[in-house]
Amino acid sequence: MEVVSGVADEIGAGRTGLRISPGTPLNDIEEHDTHDVYPALVGELAPLNLAYLHVMHGGDDELLRELRQAWPSALLLNRAGAGLDTRVSDLDTGLADVITVGSMALANPDLPARVRAGAPLNQPDRATFYGGDHHGYTDYPTLDASQGHDAA
Ligand SMILES: Cc1cc2nc3c(=O)[nH]c(=O)nc-3n(C[C@H](O)[C@H](O)[C@H](O)COP(=O)(O)O)c2cc1C
Repeated sequence: MEVVSGVADEIGAGRTGLRISPGTPLNDIEEHDTHDVYPALVGELAPLNLAYLHVMHGGDDELLRELRQAWPSALLLNRAGAGLDTRVSDLDTGLADVITVGSMALANPDLPARVRAGAPLNQPDRATFYGGDHHGYTDYPTLDASQGHDAA
């Protein structure tokens, strides 16, 4: 709360957002008190009029619904590991105002064009995540490149 308030005071609440990842096991995190911590945090954040809250959703649907209800403005939802159709359905149900994608965007530099065309997606290579060199970050082919067309 101190950090978020400090940033919002400095640059404006409307230009400040926060990402939370309740229960994520990344980096060996073990979190067993998500139902206490996150509703309390979001309840305190709610009056600050931030631009958005970004939630990485790891599967606790009950917690997600509770956070949605407690959050008054834009909720960005990263439904980790889910397919695009499932993510889009969160817009239809109102669970999310915006859906976000991580590895899908990483692996598909032309993701909007692929989605628009109903084209297949490159699958992300987890072995190249979180380190190494440019491999797995800037060398996934565009649809044009995959089909042997010159992107120009
Ligand atoms: C290479 C890579 C780097 C990431 N770095 C961060 C990070 O710095 N902070 C963070 O909160 N999440 C980070 N993530 C997690 C993603 O934002 C996202 O939550 C995760 O990949 C699951 O969602 P997805 O299925 O849309 O990829 C990273 C993911 C990848 C693949």
